[in-house]
Amino acid sequence: MHEFSPGLAGVPAAKSKISFVDGQAGVLEYRGIRIEELAHQSSFMETSYLLLYARLPTEAELDKFSADVSHHRRIKYRITDLIKCLPEHGHPMDALQAAVAALGMFYPARNVLDPEVQYWSTVRLIAKVPTIVAAYYRLRRGDEQIQPRDDLNHANNFLYMLTGKVPDPLIAKALDTCLILHAEHTMNASTFSGLVTASTLADPYTVVSSAIGTLKGPLHGGATEEVVEMLQEIGSLEHVRPYLEKKLAAKQRLMGFGHRIYKVKDPRAIILQGLARQLFAYYGRSALFELAEEVERGGEELLRHKGVHANVDFYSGVLYKTMGLDPDFFPAVFAMARVTGWLAHWLEQLKDNKLFRPDQIYEGIHGRPYVPLARRGVGEDALE
Ligand SMILES: CC(C)(COP(=O)(O)OP(=O)(O)OC[C@H]1O[C@@H](n2cnc3c(N)ncnc32)[C@H](O)[C@@H]1OP(=O)(O)O)[C@@H](O)C(=O)NCCC(=O)NCCS
Repeated sequence: MHEFSPGLAGVPAAKSKISFVDGQAGVLEYRGIRIEELAHQSSFMETSYLLLYARLPTEAELDKFSADVSHHRRIKYRITDLIKCLPEHGHPMDALQAAVAALGMFYPARNVLDPEVQYWSTVRLIAKVPTIVAAYYRLRRGDEQIQPRDDLNHANNFLYMLTGKVPDPLIAKALDTCLILHAEHTMNASTFSGLVTASTLADPYTVVSSAIGTLKGPLHGGATEEVVEMLQEIGSLEHVRPYLEKKLAAKQRLMGFGHRIYKVKDPRAIILQGLARQLFAYYGRSALFELAEEVERGGEELLRHKGVHANVDFYSGVLYKTMGLDPDFFPAVFAMARVTGWLAHWLEQLKDNKLFRPDQIYEGIHGRPYVPLARRGVGEDALE
């Protein structure tokens, strides 16, 4: 019997060559390449190819992959109808999970070991997730869905589907960088949950919908949303210090701070902060960003001694808000990026799949008698 580790902390669940994190040194690599290099020089399409196929593509390979994704952005009108039927106050992650599960009914992918099935379902999922997110964004406001444009790149097209306007290149580049930074992060909760589903040889749409459900929780993809809510609650620079002190004295957590793996500032937070600085130097000051930097300075002073620093979620919400997104859509943008990581792990696991079937430590009783209904007393047998 192995030792029990709550949350499976420290228990390897797979052997993987996809990404690497050194939480003490603040290093993140995708397929061996530092995240800083990818953020500054790559694109989300190229990074997706790298994660999925283990190497950087040639120009021709990248063109083909990008074109295949662009051609598969449209969603069936029945999926749009399904999204229209969802409540307007619903959570975008629930809409995304339902629509992705439904996608699988249109594109049967039962033979998951077939390379054609693997390639086209990967392309379809990366292509259609942004279309679903944008469709729900528009439809729940009572606006018409905007059809995707094949001539725009991934980030440009997503922002276009939200507003009907081709975005400013700097904004589109910022979103593309956010997608690169969120595309993959070793064995996190949503990847693990997708892999558990994948281990049953379920189709990739079911795998991704499982992962979306797991990403939704506030301890995972939901934190970005809560950072912006926290900043709005603080309101202004002079309230920062008292707010932080009160919160920590009450043993509450600062959202966007701390990480199970990183004990230094998350390298993705450093890149996002730089990106936000660049953006606001060009477009003009952002009170929300200035407030975020002040909160980070205060949080750093108060929590540094515990190895708690800003994480990836701290600045991404400020950027998404600047792009006009409602806070409850932030995790869905995270999912648009992470779909690549989930699928890379799915492809890797299929090469040597084994059904996940962990053990448990039984702590209940044995040999308990069955008491017929007529002889049971009130509250009897109310054992755990
Ligand atoms: C992500 C997270 C769950 C990781 O937690 P963890 O690795 O289990 O760390 P622990 O819960 O063991 O925390 C260690 C110490 O740091 C403190 N700490 C960790 N994160 C903190 C935070 N965000 N705010 C204040 N204190 C925090 C804990 O209170 C604990 O202090 P103690 O030793 O005095 O009790 C946690 O940092 C957190 O809840 N962060 C806020 C949510 C968030 O931003 N999530 C997104 C992660 S990318």
